[in-house]
Amino acid sequence: MNPEKYTIKTAAKTDFEWIKELYAQTWSGDICVSRGKVQKVDDFTGGFVAETGGQNTGFVTYTISGTELEITGIVSLKEKGGIGSALVKAVIELAKKQKIKKICLVTTNDNLNGIVFWQKRGFKLVKVYPGSMEYVRQIKPAVPLIGENGIPLMDELELEMIL
Ligand SMILES: CC(C)(COP(=O)(O)OP(=O)(O)OC[C@H]1O[C@@H](n2cnc3c(N)ncnc32)[C@H](O)[C@@H]1OP(=O)(O)O)[C@@H](O)C(=O)NCCC(=O)NCCS
Repeated sequence: MNPEKYTIKTAAKTDFEWIKELYAQTWSGDICVSRGKVQKVDDFTGGFVAETGGQNTGFVTYTISGTELEITGIVSLKEKGGIGSALVKAVIELAKKQKIKKICLVTTNDNLNGIVFWQKRGFKLVKVYPGSMEYVRQIKPAVPLIGENGIPLMDELELEMIL
């Protein structure tokens, strides 16, 4: 089967309305809480959007701070067709152009798919924040107690790629 063709573009201001909505659906609110830091989607540095047949089918967002780029979210609405990988590639290319030294991101202990996805794309697991989702729930009370795969959602896992 031929996967549908997609294109990757820099997220425009108008795309951020769509991103914000999908972000909120995916992570129980339009706020990113990672490693004790709180960021609004509106305050992210930028992002990329995947488009398939004129429809947005995925996004990745990031925040740059000094020489570090944090991937603050990634969603593919057409999984296993290459969109997620293409979005990550776009971020890595941008980071290299901007002389970023480290790309980091946080996933959670229940997200087995995410843990596999990032490691297969060259990211290394560098830190576990045991029990940190309790703090996340103080800021975002809608974050569920049970996450994906029926696993209690408890810890943040930090992954990074040194450029
Ligand atoms: C993680 C996520 C973004 C990946 O997106 P995706 O579009 O499925 O990513 P890709 O298609 O590039 O890669 C997924 C798998 O499909 C495979 N694939 C890609 N194109 C394919 C094709 N044409 N045919 C068959 N398999 C294909 C890839 O090789 C990859 O498998 P691998 O990891 O074993 O190499 C997506 O699963 C998602 O949105 N998850 C929910 C949100 C989430 O948890 N985000 C945060 C992650 S920390």
